[in-house]
Amino acid sequence: MADMKENDLMEKIVSLCKRRGFVFQGSDIYGGLAGTWDFGPLGIELKNNIKNLWWKRFVHNREDMYGVDAAILMNPRVWEASGHTGAGFSDPMVECNKCQHRFRADHLDDLKKCADCGGVLSAPRQFNMMFETRTGSTSGEEGKVYLRPETAQGMFVNFKNVMDSIHPKLPFGMAQIGKAFRNEIAPRDFIFRVRELEQMEIEYFVRESEWETHFAHWMGEMKSWMKDVGVDVAKVHELDVEEADRAHYSKKTIDFEFEFPQGTKELYGIAYRTDFDLKNHAEHSKVDLSYFDEETKERFIPHVIEPTFGVERTILAILVSAYTEDEMNGEVRTYLKLAPSIAPYRVCVSPLLKNKPELVAKAREVFTMLKKNIPNVAWDDNGNIGKRYRRQDEIGTPACVVIDFDTLGENPELLDTVTIRDRDTGTQTRVTLSELTNYIK
Ligand code: GAP
Repeated sequence: MADMKENDLMEKIVSLCKRRGFVFQGSDIYGGLAGTWDFGPLGIELKNNIKNLWWKRFVHNREDMYGVDAAILMNPRVWEASGHTGAGFSDPMVECNKCQHRFRADHLDDLKKCADCGGVLSAPRQFNMMFETRTGSTSGEEGKVYLRPETAQGMFVNFKNVMDSIHPKLPFGMAQIGKAFRNEIAPRDFIFRVRELEQMEIEYFVRESEWETHFAHWMGEMKSWMKDVGVDVAKVHELDVEEADRAHYSKKTIDFEFEFPQGTKELYGIAYRTDFDLKNHAEHSKVDLSYFDEETKERFIPHVIEPTFGVERTILAILVSAYTEDEMNGEVRTYLKLAPSIAPYRVCVSPLLKNKPELVAKAREVFTMLKKNIPNVAWDDNGNIGKRYRRQDEIGTPACVVIDFDTLGENPELLDTVTIRDRDTGTQTRVTLSELTNYIK
């Protein structure tokens, strides 16, 4: 594992994801659509587990956080106020005069020659990354709207609604999980840079004088999230982003970079957005977005700390962290060392032999019993038991329960006990059926 070449690792992860039903190329049977990926039966379980864990941690487990689910299509004036229609949300693009391939100028070493066909590259021009579409039956500029490029604005435009309906006191936050769209010039590296992505974002509203304290608090929260969700924190590095590279709204940004197989790149970010967004929305909408402090009798526009988490990059960082090859019983095996809280299946149930109806019947009983308390239980009776273990190892199932003849009382002392095999060590333990649910939980 240690000397596995990094691009081999990416290839292995992409292949495992396809083979085992985690992630497929979007529109696969039509040759795909660049920058889009579909999550399969196992991928959606992994993704939902991550999102649910995030929501539980940052919304349900806190008393200062309010969730929203805003529309993807927003009034286009939102994007004027936020600065996204201007240069702030553009990337420098060059185009080849021969093959018409487009590249991000800031990602190239040679700005003159096309890396794909040797053609001549155009001078860089700014390319806005927002996708445009139209509402209703209008054509031309009328009715033009954008697919949101970040979930953040859905929270800023609902700041007043939340204030008026819930009456929270500072400091408090709003949280949202949802799709965002970016017309990336060069989508690449599997699910790392995509055109349709999902974000988990928090806008945390604070008094200006307290921003540094909250910034530090949220950095700590992000680090402990990464650790708990299964990102290898030894591969995470903090980058204090220089002013020239910061987003137009940010006065300070720390990127959490991760050692992805294709290089050390941004996984998450935390930004001090000041009062930039609320102030601009107040000016553009002419709606008062200030906060009245009952204690000090002051009225002011709150400042914002924004921790932002990309869902696809979370999944990729977790897969890179979890992918393991070792040797077991003289064979190389591959397994995903996923945290039980996010594994697509928490446990798999099998009869030792598929052709023994009494074993199958008992195993179905155990499966049904477990499913009452644990929703993500797999059933697997394909192939021999060794193959089943390999399959479950590869998809990261932490435990495999096997019903054998001893469960049925062949050895009376072991009646109503089953074996549980641990994914990481391969060791097997015998547990009584009455203890099983709690043991797994
Ligand atoms: N609201 C702030 C914001 O959107 P960002 O750094 O542009 O900031 C936030 O994006 C996060 O979204 C990133 O840290 C990354 O995890 C994810 N992200 C951004 N662009 C992405 C893309 N094209 N593909 C996959 N994930 C992306």
